[in-house]
Amino acid sequence: MIRSSLVCLFTLFLCSTEACQINRKVQPSMTATVFGKLSDGREVHEYTLTNRAGITAKIIDYGATVRSLLVPDRNGKMADVVLGYDSVQGYADGTAYFGAIVGRYGNRIGKGKFQLDGKEYQLTINDGENHLHGGKIGFNKVLWAGKILSDSGKPSLQLQYVSPDGEEGYPGTVTLKVTYTLTDNNELRIDYEGTTDKPTILNPTQHSYFNLSGVFTNKILDHQLMIEADGITPVDKGLIPTGQILSVANTPMDFRTHTAIGARINDPNEQLAFGKGYDHNWVLRNKAGQVGKAAELYEPGSGRLMIVSTDQPGLQFYSGNFLDGSAKGKNGVAYQHRTGLCLETQAFPDTPNKPQFGSITLRPEQVYRQTTIYQFSTR
Ligand code: GLA
Repeated sequence: MIRSSLVCLFTLFLCSTEACQINRKVQPSMTATVFGKLSDGREVHEYTLTNRAGITAKIIDYGATVRSLLVPDRNGKMADVVLGYDSVQGYADGTAYFGAIVGRYGNRIGKGKFQLDGKEYQLTINDGENHLHGGKIGFNKVLWAGKILSDSGKPSLQLQYVSPDGEEGYPGTVTLKVTYTLTDNNELRIDYEGTTDKPTILNPTQHSYFNLSGVFTNKILDHQLMIEADGITPVDKGLIPTGQILSVANTPMDFRTHTAIGARINDPNEQLAFGKGYDHNWVLRNKAGQVGKAAELYEPGSGRLMIVSTDQPGLQFYSGNFLDGSAKGKNGVAYQHRTGLCLETQAFPDTPNKPQFGSITLRPEQVYRQTTIYQFSTR
């Protein structure tokens, strides 16, 4: 945590060798400022990470949230490609999880119930009759402790949150560290490390809404998406998986080759009707525990390409179906229907109640780890 007495403005120069100076376009740097205050007076800090190519991520310690991400188009013009707010109040009041780390459980748990070691736990119900994204006050609604990591030679920020035993109904005190690193390969890399003092469940994810056009009045329907998956976990009308795996072949869920998101989003299809568009988990081909490519997202107008890699088994693709203009975002722009999309890497939804999906139990002797990378380039 940064003390306000430090005036909170400093720059870490992470590149000092001569070779490094010759190659660089911009000095990689990291600065911190006070972004604003919560209603109880606590300060929210904003960290600005810039890599050699000038890609800039602004991350706040409230919700461990990526607030803006400047990346170049095919002509080198920088634009912000993630939805968010200009003020702390926006994040404190917001309901869309813009840019945040969500958890303890990213996604849904049916009826908010699960059993662990023979005991049943009841979590907060906050989405119809189900539990979503950690409950009423999930990881997106708490202040994390930030620490600048200067030893990696890259702009890197670690955020830590200690979630007390019983929070939102979850057992065990969980300590989660999320490290954001901006690499020279134009990657925003996210490393998670979680521990607990009692058996519990943990499945955090990153909830950025991307619009690679950089113009947030544009819909994301012309973005082309490719997902490295042959199946999805179909859901019921409450968006809880049925437990089956459905082949994407001959369905609007087939993104095995680059396809415009809008091409089939209004097709008559039960899954699309339940999700009000795309709001489903794809079963990635990745080998468990190994970071591999999960998806590519391309925006033809700007030429921006984003490649998502992860070691997680699932990818929730959400096409911003609940955006309705009520969220007033950065620069006063009201985020309309489908003007941002999420690609959330995680274990499958409702895994605690679906043994066939594996296990996301975390025990005191174990360490939860996840690595997810969003890499930017142009075509
Ligand atoms: C996830 C869910 C969606 C929705 C958004 C937040 O992506 O799957 O149904 O809740 O978060 O609005």
